[in-house]
Order: sequence, then C-alpha cells, then structure tokens
Amino acid sequence: MNTSADTTPDWSGFQTDIYRRATDDQILPALPTNLLALEALAMEVMTEEARGYIVASAGNGDATRGNRDGFNRYRILPRVLAGVDKRSLATCVVGESQLAPMILAPVGVQTLAHPDGELATARAAAHTGITYVHSQAASHSFEEVADAAGSGRRWFQLYWVTDRNVVLSFLDRAKNAGFSSLVLTVDTVVLGWRPADLNRGFLPFLRGIGVRNYTTDPAFMSTIEVARRGDPHAIGEQWLRIFPHAGLNWTDLAWLRDQWKGPILIKGIQHPHDATRSIDEGLDGVIVSNHGGRQIDSGLATIDSLAAIVAAVDDRIPVLIDSGIRTGTDVLKAIALGASAALIGRSFLYGLALAGQAGVEHVIRCTLAELELSMALAGASTPDELTPDHLRRTR
Ligand code: FNR
Repeated sequence: MNTSADTTPDWSGFQTDIYRRATDDQILPALPTNLLALEALAMEVMTEEARGYIVASAGNGDATRGNRDGFNRYRILPRVLAGVDKRSLATCVVGESQLAPMILAPVGVQTLAHPDGELATARAAAHTGITYVHSQAASHSFEEVADAAGSGRRWFQLYWVTDRNVVLSFLDRAKNAGFSSLVLTVDTVVLGWRPADLNRGFLPFLRGIGVRNYTTDPAFMSTIEVARRGDPHAIGEQWLRIFPHAGLNWTDLAWLRDQWKGPILIKGIQHPHDATRSIDEGLDGVIVSNHGGRQIDSGLATIDSLAAIVAAVDDRIPVLIDSGIRTGTDVLKAIALGASAALIGRSFLYGLALAGQAGVEHVIRCTLAELELSMALAGASTPDELTPDHLRRTR
C-alpha cells in the first residue's frame, strides 16, 4: 500500500493498483470488488452450521434486511469542484488515532468461517492499520491474537458474565496482552431467538467451539472439576451457567469503570436516553448497533437510530455505528449522519470465509477505497467535511 509522508494511507490507490496489475500482468482481483456479491460466494464455501450461525439472524431476518434497507433509503447528494486532491480518511476515536473511520466489529467463533479464524482477521487488521476488536466468544485466546496482531491496534469486547472473577481475569489478560479499549456489549443479556441455529440445535459454545478465552482462563477453569476440564460438554455447561447476564443494570457500570482504566465503549445502544445515560456513567463512546439483526427481529435499522443519538450525545463522546454496513458508501452515509466510525461485521467475515487473511484485507481495501473515492466525488476531502447535507432520505 502506498503511504504518504504524513503516513496517511493512499486507500484509493487500490483502484489504480487493480487496473495496473490487470494491464501490466493480466492479474485480476481474486475476489469481486462489489462487496455485496461476497455473501452468496461465501455461502457456497461455508458449512450449513456456519451459514446458519453467520448469515442468518433473529426471527425472520426482518431486522437484518431492515438494516440494509435503511442504508439504501439514504442517497448521496454530491457537491462538485471542491478541490479534493489532498485527502485523508484519518480520524481519532476515544483519543486513539485511526487510519480510517472503520473498525472490524467483534465477531465470535470465526473458525466457523475459516480455520485461521481470528488470527487471520487480526493479521489483516494489523497489516492494513485498522483496529481489530477481539470477541470474548472467540476461537482464539487474547494472547494468541496478540501474537498474531503484533503492534496492530486491538480492542477487547466484553460479554459481562455473572461471575465477576472471570470478568476480572478477562480484563486483566486483555490489558496485559495490549488491548487498549474495552467494548461492553449490552444487547445480549439474553440470546435472541435464532431459528436457523435452533432448527439445527447448534450453539457452538456448548460443543466447545468459541470458548478459547474461557478454556485458557484460570478463573473460569477453576470452577470446573479437575477431572472434567478436558470435556467440551462440561465446559459448555459451565459457560451456560455464567452466560448471559440478564440481571445486568446501569448501576453495575461504576464497578466496571473502576476496573478498566482505558476507554470503554458501550455497544448495542439504540435509544438516545441510553446513549446519554452512558455518558452519565462515565463511558467514553457509544456504538449504535442491533447486533446485525441477530438479537431482536423487527428492530429498527441502526442508521435510523443514529441522528437522534448523535443529537443527544452532542459531541460529548464519539458515536460509532454498525449493522448492515457492506460498502464504502454505507460508511460514508454513517459518517455524514454524525458517526465517528463504522464497524463492519459480516462483510469481513465473508472475505475471511473465502480467502482467510487475504480475504479480510480485500474487504478492508475495497471498502476504504470506495469510501475515499465516493467522499471525493461528494466534494469532501476528510470525513469531518461530510455533513447530513450530503444525503437525502428518499423514503
Ligand atoms: C456477531 N456480533 C457480535 N457482537 C459482539 O459484541 N460480540 C460477539 O461475539 C459477536 N459475535 C457475532 C458473531 C457473528 C457470526 C455475527 C454475524 C455478529 C455482532 C457484530 O459485532 C456486529 O454488531 C454485527 O455483525 C454488525 O452487523 P453486520 O455488519 O454483520 O450487518
């Protein structure tokens, strides 16, 4: 990747690279550059269980389709002749510099998509300079991912389980393994109704898949009888005893605030009052998310929650967004409506399923090249210059 003197990557140079390689060496991109085409291709290479877990959603899938419809309702209204030759996607989120306003969402059990799972994703994120968020439900441990990511920026996503000793141990390990910010996911205090998994009776954790952070954890393992510590069934049952945490309450947050000194972002916020309450509780960022439509079917599209939350938060802390983001223009729309950054979930998972680390890098590069080019075509040189006036809601 070309990098200019001020270390801002030339994301849009990926476009020229593709044309040059095809012209000079007859090499075409290994995966489609229209990222919406990846889902169908990934479906072909994944097992039935992986398809059900990754692609399918809560209920009838209305919330997941609604997320996409929400983005499609907004159209971009460009301004021309704005002098957009000097561009940068660089930004700052919770006091940390980011090379682009895009982050890889925390996604559990990535070995369902590809045997290298989170290691491939963390390497792709580090290689491109994008932040990786490690799910508590990962198939690789904090320490394994830290080894793979090297100096790449990484955050840890916490599912607050009922056993505080396990929470403390996870926080400690994350800190020691170089995870800088904490993402607390609050939309999963119970598991959503997911027919694709229910019909197959497939919950990976009960089969010992996606519990690597747990099985490598002294606090968690100490709660299992010594003789049964190698038994996936015993591990799954113990996991089920402490996850999820339906009793979790706003008043618990003060404890977490005391335990984690770095930034804390709260993920799964959809109502403006919950966003402002997060500020009152001393949190540092809000992620507007409906978990990609995997929790409540018929939930509101996140892009339709965004503007009211941005208004309520009023620049006091950054507002991020995910759910339904597949393309650079989706990211552009989120930024124009006031998001500081967008997270992608399934879109990078499809790249992972199709080509491992290279597939995730392909998705990152395509998304950010399209973002930078579309931003320029809309008349903005930096994400800060995008405003709601660059968009029109059509329906
Ligand atoms: C997720 N997501 C998720 N979120 C989280 O906080 N912890 C987790 O372990 C997971 N695991 C997970 C697994 C799978 C297979 C998917 C698809 C999603 C939700 C994720 O962080 C993000 O909110 C959504 O993926 C965003 O929606 P899109 O981009 O998938 O439409």
